[in-house]
Amino acid sequence: MNEKEIAALVQQVLKEMTGGAAAPASAPSRSYAPAANNGGIPKTARVAVLTGLKHFDVKEYPIPEVGDDDILVKVEGCGVCGTDAHEFKVDPFGLIPVALGHEGTGEIVKMGKNVKCDSAGKPVKVGDKIVTCMIFKDNPDITMFDLNKKNVGGADVYGLLPDDDIHLNGWFSDYIFIRGGSFGSTFFNVSDLDLDSRILIEPCAVLVHAVERAKQTNILRFNSKVVVQGCGPIGLICIAVLRTLGIETIVAVDGNDERLAFAKRMGASETVNYRNIKGIDALAAAVQDAFGGKLADFAFQCTGSPVAHSNIYHFIRNGGGLCELGFFINGGDATINPHFDLCSKEITLVGSWVYTLRDYVTTFDFLKRAIGIGLPIKELITHRFSLDEMNEALETNLAQKGLKIAYINKDL
Ligand SMILES: NC(=O)c1ccc[n+]([C@@H]2O[C@H](COP(=O)([O-])OP(=O)(O)OC[C@H]3O[C@@H](n4cnc5c(N)ncnc54)[C@H](O)[C@@H]3O)[C@@H](O)[C@H]2O)c1
Ligand SMILES: [Zn+2]
Repeated sequence: MNEKEIAALVQQVLKEMTGGAAAPASAPSRSYAPAANNGGIPKTARVAVLTGLKHFDVKEYPIPEVGDDDILVKVEGCGVCGTDAHEFKVDPFGLIPVALGHEGTGEIVKMGKNVKCDSAGKPVKVGDKIVTCMIFKDNPDITMFDLNKKNVGGADVYGLLPDDDIHLNGWFSDYIFIRGGSFGSTFFNVSDLDLDSRILIEPCAVLVHAVERAKQTNILRFNSKVVVQGCGPIGLICIAVLRTLGIETIVAVDGNDERLAFAKRMGASETVNYRNIKGIDALAAAVQDAFGGKLADFAFQCTGSPVAHSNIYHFIRNGGGLCELGFFINGGDATINPHFDLCSKEITLVGSWVYTLRDYVTTFDFLKRAIGIGLPIKELITHRFSLDEMNEALETNLAQKGLKIAYINKDL
């Protein structure tokens, strides 16, 4: 895909997510005076603003007065997402100048008198560590009462908001300003998780949701043989979620030996490098061998490759299940044979996209359990950059080096 095509695809996804709007809705108008006396909090905050294609400038803005419903957070870190990389490279949302960073976390340093609980009803106080989730502007009640919404499509998010008079709208910064009331922000108190875990919450929620979708087929069980195709961060986290459920017979398929080695450490019982094998029949035979002569009961498709989608049916037994989650954006058409791949095998297929707020909360427990059973989940963060190094951070992501790239506030 060329850059124009990627831009068109991302624009299309954004349209789906915002229910037709071409770009995220702008913030409601409200004037914010700079804070008069913030007791120990600096007067200004530093924000890495994407001011042009492939260019961040660190800008300094006044920290506004914290209203009765607002929260001021000192940022500790934020993961770099594929969406940030698209925005950095081609600005498909037309947001420049924009404060990016949506997989962030930090400490509450000041909050309004009306802020008592997070979006799950857990009490919050100054000093607590939080993460934000989506902004449900059209339905602020969702923050308290509807954690089960199907998924978070149709919502805005800090880190992809249009610039406004507050400016502290993204997590690639040293302070972020979380607006309360009708703005519809959702946030969670995650003080019991360490910094690396908190940075990994967002991508992990994608897999908690995918596994919840898979469970709805009634095929994925304690003793299932599971194939995970694709061992980028998404596939690797998929293996970790399966391991925390007690599933032990997992075959990982990828073309990168380093990633396959990581898959083993994450809990895959066997691995198959598809690049060493010619033809789909031989590949299916290799997967079958890895399961000791049987095909998979269930499969997770974690690549953005249409060929990989076509291939995966061959790894699944009659009556088995498949969760396709590899296409966050349109990656093109895939060919399958409806008779052989679906009908005659009676495959149950589910798609999975983003997550619900409920999955977000489940993810906190998943992370604790993954660490508790010794999975190297935190090693997914392979590169760490400071605010002044955000250009390098995004270039590293675009060059597909390592696994997860993160901004870490090194001034803490
Ligand atoms: N469903 C969602 O909500 C959601 C959320 C985030 C990401 N995603 C999607 O998940 C996919 C994976 O994300 P990631 O960050 O791990 O990406 P990634 O590019 O880091 O990893 C993909 C992996 O797939 C492997 N691969 C490619 N072709 C293959 C093939 N034919 N057979 C086996 N392996 C193959 C690659 O070697 C690579 O390791 C992306 O396409 C992304 O769009 C979906
Ligand atoms: Zn993201």
